[in-house]
Amino acid sequence: MSYVEEVVAALDAVADTRVVWEKGLMNAGGPHRRLASSISPISIGEDECGLFGRLIEELEPKTCFIVGNAFGFSSAYIAKAMMDHGGERIITLDAQSEGDGERCAQIARALTKKLELDILTNKKGWSPDDLATAVESENYDLIFIDGCHGHPAVSKDFDGLQPYARPDTVFVWHDFWFPGVRHSVNEAVAKGFLCHWVPTSCEMVLGCQDEAMFARLQKAFPEGDADPESHFSLPRYAINWWLKSMSVYLRVFAERVTGASPTRQLPRASGDS
Ligand SMILES: C[S@@+](CC[C@H](N)C(=O)[O-])C[C@H]1O[C@@H](n2cnc3c(N)ncnc32)[C@H](O)[C@@H]1O
Repeated sequence: MSYVEEVVAALDAVADTRVVWEKGLMNAGGPHRRLASSISPISIGEDECGLFGRLIEELEPKTCFIVGNAFGFSSAYIAKAMMDHGGERIITLDAQSEGDGERCAQIARALTKKLELDILTNKKGWSPDDLATAVESENYDLIFIDGCHGHPAVSKDFDGLQPYARPDTVFVWHDFWFPGVRHSVNEAVAKGFLCHWVPTSCEMVLGCQDEAMFARLQKAFPEGDADPESHFSLPRYAINWWLKSMSVYLRVFAERVTGASPTRQLPRASGDS
């Protein structure tokens, strides 16, 4: 079983979920997931788990910090992959502010337990205010920003995480298509960060300050591009979001009206080990 298959099987055992954006949102990829009972939060796509799989295989990070955990899909995948590559510690911080946050946290805990992810600890709190009490390491090898996507929230997350980063720490931003995420990436570039855009379902950006590390990122993700801003396209994003999110809203509406639960078996994304 691949990591993503293991995580999805464990999630199916502890929660009732639905797939969202089966073929990706802004680019080919997906599927993403949400809890059956609510339209958000929505997890990263399976293709994006594959990106983390490749990143972890390449960098073998020992420590990882995640802002925005929801029901634990991305952190479970990252923990699973890191445990097989010498990983030692992962902390997530989530304010439980989206959807039924408490239920999401319960599911994240159940997933961690089911998959025996001993290196993963999920904490409740707000970024950036609670970062100082949540961190457990002087600095982190890998930092994933996937909390509130508005401006200036993403920039505040990024700034608040700087004391826990080294020049070769790799930051990963999810959802580059959100103006708040784009803003944060552009600010990082202005501060001297080297950033690599990758065309995943929701578009991810990998960034660091160290040139040698950046060269490794570029080599590991040749499909990406070192000029994220050149890929920001409001018309394309707006059309994709409108077309693909409307189908999600309509499906949720139909489920509520008919009481149906259209769970479908989907092929798993390839690319993860
Ligand atoms: C998109 S979801 C994260 C999805 C998760 N990374 C995954 O793929 O499984 C965003 C999460 O960020 C949390 N959040 C929003 N603002 C936050 C903040 N300022 N600090 C911590 N968590 C926050 C929300 O409660 C929500 O669970």
